[in-house]
Amino acid sequence: MKHFINLEDLSTHDLNQIIDNAITLKKEHKTGQINKALESKTLAMIFDKSSTRTRVSFEAGMAQLGGHALFLSERDIQLGRGESIVDSAIVIGSMVDGIMMRVSSHNDINTFAQNANVPIINALSDESHPCQLLADMMTYKEHKGNIQGKTVTWIGDGNNMCQTYMQAASVFDFKLNIATPKGYEPESSFITQYQDYIKLCDNAKEACKNSDLVVTDVWASMGQEDEQAKREFAFKDFQVNSDLMQQANADASFMHCLPAHREEEVSSDVIDGMQSLVWDEAENRLHAQKALLLYLLS
Ligand code: CP
Ligand code: NVA
Repeated sequence: MKHFINLEDLSTHDLNQIIDNAITLKKEHKTGQINKALESKTLAMIFDKSSTRTRVSFEAGMAQLGGHALFLSERDIQLGRGESIVDSAIVIGSMVDGIMMRVSSHNDINTFAQNANVPIINALSDESHPCQLLADMMTYKEHKGNIQGKTVTWIGDGNNMCQTYMQAASVFDFKLNIATPKGYEPESSFITQYQDYIKLCDNAKEACKNSDLVVTDVWASMGQEDEQAKREFAFKDFQVNSDLMQQANADASFMHCLPAHREEEVSSDVIDGMQSLVWDEAENRLHAQKALLLYLLS
């Protein structure tokens, strides 16, 4: 049995196979081919944070594959009233074929994996967001080909998405420039672990030079809403706008996991412009996760 808690839980070979299968599944879906490979399978989806893309893509994906998805908000299940993580994991795991979790603490996902006897999928934690990277890598491949040896630039907060790009740099073998304001770098353990793949700086323009892909995310993640004003000030020189994109290679692409705040971390002309891949990136959550579900549950 395998889990998908971090990208590195699967080999580079298997991740590439999932991405290739996702590209095939996308074509099949668009030509109306039916695939019921997960008939009679159930995925529990535990959310203690908001979601549009993750919820819709997992729920629609399970339905399209003939299975069923259960939306479990922490507000509604006993976990939210203090039932222990371990007890919840044993019980939910005994009834379903897989569990997808979006929770604040990455450790809670690990605890579920140790106690629920089914595959666990990390659908965003404080530490990482591996499902998003599957979709991002699929999108890059569809538009530009192999990412190996390319240069990717992360602009903004050293958050869960940034840290997953660090993992992706090692798994898919690309160079990653990271530009954050001082004090907003990724966790030091990540910096140490991925030092061979990353270059850290606090100058966004410098970081974009020779880049094939520029990526950003919100300045205040879920749970950091009360830091919004402070962060707007700290990140004011880290907006991805056309000036910044001009530092990157002429054919560079732009990605953002969404939801986006236009005119904060990204200007409208960039996110809605020719270099932006964000709509395919969002749609590909569906196809990439269908391939992941087939890999883990069938
Ligand atoms: N990118 C992403 O995970 O979006 P949601 O928060 O809408 O699921
Ligand atoms: N860094 C963001 C990603 C949202 C998909 C957050 O954690 O809120």
